[in-house]
Amino acid sequence: MWGWVSIVIGYLLGSISFSFLAGKWLKGIDIRQHGSGNAGATNTLRVLGKGPGIAVLLLDMLKGIAAVWIGYALGGGDPLVQVLAGMSVIVGHNWPVFFGFRGGKGIATTIGVMATLAFLPSLYAGIAAIAAIAITRYVSLGSLLFTALLPILLAVMGKPVEILALSLLLFAFAWFRHRSNIVKLLKGQENKLGGRRQL
Ligand code: G3P
Repeated sequence: MWGWVSIVIGYLLGSISFSFLAGKWLKGIDIRQHGSGNAGATNTLRVLGKGPGIAVLLLDMLKGIAAVWIGYALGGGDPLVQVLAGMSVIVGHNWPVFFGFRGGKGIATTIGVMATLAFLPSLYAGIAAIAAIAITRYVSLGSLLFTALLPILLAVMGKPVEILALSLLLFAFAWFRHRSNIVKLLKGQENKLGGRRQL
């Protein structure tokens, strides 16, 4: 019973779109109508600047961490409940009940969830993703790489099967949500980090 409550809490927590709130509070805009149109940290950076971008990144990660911990606490340590709470926070972020089911791409929240469930594999995937972003300046490429590497690293490092299954699902979510980025990357038209502010 309490396990289910934590899954619902995870979804509601994920549905708090910090990038949307930052856009509204700081500039009175709907972030989804600016820049890439995504309600996420990268687009917040692009549209609102560095400070709000970093704040949204941290808050989106934090809600992933919080959801897994709530799953742990309410699920009595059941790893499956933690995994489901982690999944539901990302579903909430991507399809938020409070914002017309139009949310973000889930990467910062995925980092929070996966770093809590499997720290070292997430760290290695994160280092590879940061290197890819530093070299190419494509954040989306780093995001895609991060989610693709995670299941491989989890499998190689012998992590529990439910965490591996979650990482495969999150890989599917992330690549699905990045489909327009993938097309732009292939055409060489993807936004690069550090371009002009796109308000
Ligand atoms: O995490 C989202 C990032 O990978 C891409 O964001 O705004 O460039 O579509 P954006």
